[in-house]
Amino acid sequence: MHATDFMGLSLKNPVVIAPGPWSRGEKLKDALQCNAGAIITESIVSESYADTSPRYTYSSDNRGLQNIRLYSAAELEEWIHWLEEAKKQKRYGSSSRLIASIMGSSPSELGYLAKKIEKTGIDGIEIGFACPMGEGQDIIAGDPQRVYACASEVVRSVHVPVSVKLSAGTGNLSAVVEAAGKAGVSGISGIDTLRCILKINIETGKPDLPTYGGYSGAPIRPIGLATIASIAQCTDLPIIGMGGIENYENLIEYIMAGASAGGIGTAILLHGYEAVTRTIQELEDWLQEHEIHDLSEIRGCALSELHSFEEIKRDIKKVRFSGSCSRTQCTECIDSCLHDALTLDHGQIRIDPSCCDGCGLCVNVCPENRLSLYRP
Ligand SMILES: Cc1cc2nc3c(=O)[nH]c(=O)nc-3n(C[C@H](O)[C@H](O)[C@H](O)COP(=O)(O)O)c2cc1C
Ligand code: SF4
Ligand code: SF4
Repeated sequence: MHATDFMGLSLKNPVVIAPGPWSRGEKLKDALQCNAGAIITESIVSESYADTSPRYTYSSDNRGLQNIRLYSAAELEEWIHWLEEAKKQKRYGSSSRLIASIMGSSPSELGYLAKKIEKTGIDGIEIGFACPMGEGQDIIAGDPQRVYACASEVVRSVHVPVSVKLSAGTGNLSAVVEAAGKAGVSGISGIDTLRCILKINIETGKPDLPTYGGYSGAPIRPIGLATIASIAQCTDLPIIGMGGIENYENLIEYIMAGASAGGIGTAILLHGYEAVTRTIQELEDWLQEHEIHDLSEIRGCALSELHSFEEIKRDIKKVRFSGSCSRTQCTECIDSCLHDALTLDHGQIRIDPSCCDGCGLCVNVCPENRLSLYRP
């Protein structure tokens, strides 16, 4: 098993169960049996909202999910009971780290929650600053001074390590990360869901759900990766990356973008905890196959290949075949070329290099990998 470190805690592997309804209540028992490196609970608040129904809508076209569940609907007392039960379960076998996520709108509320919850024996506290539905959260998330005030109060209130969860929508990202670091947090995680309307029925004119919701699942992964890389470029604090992780390959991408571990959320909602156990096993197999003994060998390796737009090399390449094309019915490369560099001539694709400006789109759309770019 490849261990990793998050906020000074050793995690037996880098697969984390992200906060959500799959990490609450009785479900915590199942989560603790998955052998994950850590479990972060659904966010605990001092005043909960009753749940509404329906609260999910899903698109099978792009595998994205909208939810309108703000945070946990359970009361603090209920949570304390669940966490105490989880502590007993940990004593009898599960070595997954248990991190309690809290949300609140003021330093004193967060400090109060953290103190109460710490007594249950959890390993760490995460402050969720990133929920895209509660307006108050949005305001704190982008304001370095408020992030500092809230985080430093929680750090002062407890003895366990504290992390903060940020979102892709956090304005002032580097200032917020710096403020969290100054406040004494030991880790950062992100991203939370993104504010969305997943669907509008064009016959009725109604959105599927009656309020803005949080967008999660596969389509948000590119946004998550960019956010994690940006955070990694401005801090040495350990990071848990999440957003659209469905398998070990997605999780490795997050590690290569600078994360120490990756969190899985929506994939559990859709496919059960098997999404976690499968990812742990397949990740381990991949690491062994690639003879990677320590995750530090790949952590952040993509960052050295990421430059500012001004810095990237300007040169124009041309497209060529890297194998013969056997798809007689296919015209995807031709359709994607804005420059008419690709044409069909007696059933054969012809390339006119003088028209090709090396944009690279046809290379990506080809289902058979028959095209590549070269420097003339
Ligand atoms: C139904 C649902 C409930 C969630 N509840 C919480 C929560 O209580 N606290 C939190 O920090 N994040 C919450 N999240 C966000 C996830 O932890 C995660 O950051 C986000 O969904 C992106 O990861 P994913 O694409 O793997 O789901 C929730 C997400 C979903 C889909
Ligand atoms: S690289 Fe761009 S311009 Fe060149 S053939 Fe392909 S799509 Fe056309
Ligand atoms: S996209 Fe690829 S497979 Fe399709 S016609 Fe072009 S080269 Fe052939």
